[in-house]
Amino acid sequence: MILVTGATGFIASHTIVELQNAGYDIVGVDNLCNSDIETLKNIEKITGKKIEFCNVDIRDGNKLKEFLSKYKIDCCIHFAGLKAVGESVSKPVEYYDNNIGGTISLLKVLREIGCKNLIFSSSATVYGTPAFMPITEDCPKGICTNPYGWTKHMIEQILIDVQNANKDMNIVILRYFNPIGAHPSGMIGEKPNGIPNNLMPYITQVACGKREKLFVYGDDYDTPDGTGVRDYIHVVDLARGHVCAMRAIDKNCGLDIFNLGTGHGYSVLDVIKTFEHENNIKIPYEIVARRPGDIAMCYADPAKAKSVLGWVAQYSLQDMCRDSWNYQKNML
Ligand code: NAD
Ligand code: UD1
Repeated sequence: MILVTGATGFIASHTIVELQNAGYDIVGVDNLCNSDIETLKNIEKITGKKIEFCNVDIRDGNKLKEFLSKYKIDCCIHFAGLKAVGESVSKPVEYYDNNIGGTISLLKVLREIGCKNLIFSSSATVYGTPAFMPITEDCPKGICTNPYGWTKHMIEQILIDVQNANKDMNIVILRYFNPIGAHPSGMIGEKPNGIPNNLMPYITQVACGKREKLFVYGDDYDTPDGTGVRDYIHVVDLARGHVCAMRAIDKNCGLDIFNLGTGHGYSVLDVIKTFEHENNIKIPYEIVARRPGDIAMCYADPAKAKSVLGWVAQYSLQDMCRDSWNYQKNML
């Protein structure tokens, strides 16, 4: 069985769908601090399969171990964590405690139950201001601009040390670029709390009239149109990447790191135009000052994931814009 932490969250819910469709049985845990129990029912509606679930904080090692003792866990995919960049600046203790404390607690439980395979959700944020573009996995890790980024940076190092000390463990670190979109069914997707920080959830809230206009953070970057360029990846493609990583882990991979991105960079204005065209909705916007901590450009070289995992992103930016809006409409 596969243990999924943060099971009711945005990326985990899509990953569970792909894992179940590939024939894996799932045990999920989440403390529901940033997600909804309803998500489980929606996953079950999509796949027609049940998920064994426990509402538990992964920092509660005793409760976690007691729940897991009923199952034979072959692999853990670890998504649970706090991810709001701005909040991490004002609440660093909570972020280090939850993300790093949670991971250490989980690692102890995995050791006790004899689970030797782990896949971890990292982020392109560990590259800081990237030394070169497109970003390969060999690109040196950089200086992070916020505590959230540092938690990913530090957890990666903890996992490297743990695998080094336990050569029979297999650990895959996946560095996600910018996940957007939603399941084509419109039944699961991203539900941001309060004012969205990220571009696509903000655009969909402008599209449905919840927000008046989008603020574009800077048009004076050294990019083709002056706005920030990112590698947006459809969450279903990202989810499929985890299924491919599962197969690699089964072949005793040791420790490995993969970028999960498309290899294409799109500017903020590209995303606005594509969203408008695909959904036939005007997105009013205003150019404002740069957002502190933002970089000009960030896109992946996904060649390693292709050659080693056999994974290639398939969905286009049009698909991402359509599915993001489809999900938002269903939420209204
Ligand atoms: P999400 O907030 O939707 O999912 C995270 C889930 O973890 C939530 O359901 C939350 O309730 C749960 N959780 C948090 N702390 C917990 C704890 N201590 N115990 C149990 N459950 C806990 O976020 P997401 O976008 O699905 O991200 C999943 C992972 O991927 C996170 O680790 C995130 O940092 C990482 N990541 C996300 C992005 C992105 O853009 N969404 C990019 C790179 C990396
Ligand atoms: C942000 C985080 C990153 C995190 C990722 C996924 C920062 C500095 N980085 O990445 O650590 O892993 O989210 O959660 O916060 N933009 C606007 N207007 C908006 C929102 C965004 O113009 O209202 C622009 C940004 O300036 C950027 C692009 O859109 O150029 C993408 O922004 P966003 O979706 O927040 O992702 P990142 O900044 O790449």
